[in-house]
Amino acid sequence: MGKTFAVIGDPINHSLSPNIHSAAFRELDLDSSYIAYRIPKGELEEGIEGLKKIKIDGFNITIPHKIEMMKYLDKTDESCSLIGAVNTVSNKDGILKGYNTDMDGFLEPFKKKELNITGTKVLLIGAGGAARAIVAGFAKAKAKSITIANRTLEKANNLSEFAKKLGLDANAIRIDDVKDTAKNYDIIVNATSVGLKNEQSVISLEGIDEKTVVYDIVYMPMNTDFIKKAKEKNAIVIYGYEMLLGQAVRAFEIWHNIEAPYNAMKKALLGGF
Ligand code: ATR
Repeated sequence: MGKTFAVIGDPINHSLSPNIHSAAFRELDLDSSYIAYRIPKGELEEGIEGLKKIKIDGFNITIPHKIEMMKYLDKTDESCSLIGAVNTVSNKDGILKGYNTDMDGFLEPFKKKELNITGTKVLLIGAGGAARAIVAGFAKAKAKSITIANRTLEKANNLSEFAKKLGLDANAIRIDDVKDTAKNYDIIVNATSVGLKNEQSVISLEGIDEKTVVYDIVYMPMNTDFIKKAKEKNAIVIYGYEMLLGQAVRAFEIWHNIEAPYNAMKKALLGGF
């Protein structure tokens, strides 16, 4: 019998996940389907009951449920319990197991492009849920140090403590205090939502060069102001869609236990722009 998958969240109508996974099913001739299912904030428990009733085989979770969903899991894998947020769930006979593929999804483009993380100095802008998975990723890949810059200093401080627990040399600053220091870092990541509405980058990239890696996790639009500024400096650019693709590939492999058709999924994703 065909398998059924979903992505849950709110808003959900612009999600690219159904396209990406459906393309993979077509490519591999799998008799599976993937739907977008809107579950508003406060209705997660009933929503999950509904998914169990239709015997969903697995689902992705996006804003605003990634943290609350932890309550409804029967099991968690290592990344999920470490990060404290879940974006992928498998359902085996009613037993829900949670994973966090954002961390490996974030790291995937570095691997693909053979870019080194070990021993690097990182500037991370943002201290929300996505930033937490990214910190865990940098710890896993053994970066040397991480400076966390956030609008709200308290959240940057909390995330900095988390980074230290994972063995990173970490400190926290306000975004406004980044000023002209971007050039002191090997890797600069925007993990805020700034750019989604075509806003200007919250930091200056003055002084960076062609060796600096600049990574924006905002994927819509593809060319954010942050990415444009990085390109002006000939920096090495990683687009938000690459992380989106990376997490989708991992989720696919968790659910289907076979290698994901990366190129077909990438093509479907880029077709969505
Ligand atoms: P996500 O799960 O996508 O990380 P989140 O947890 O709500 O979402 O985090 C959003 C991040 O974007 C936070 O770091 C937030 O900064 P605050 O902690 O100060 O709220 C940041 N952010 C959102 N809008 C911003 C803006 N206009 N300027 C600067 N930072 C902003």
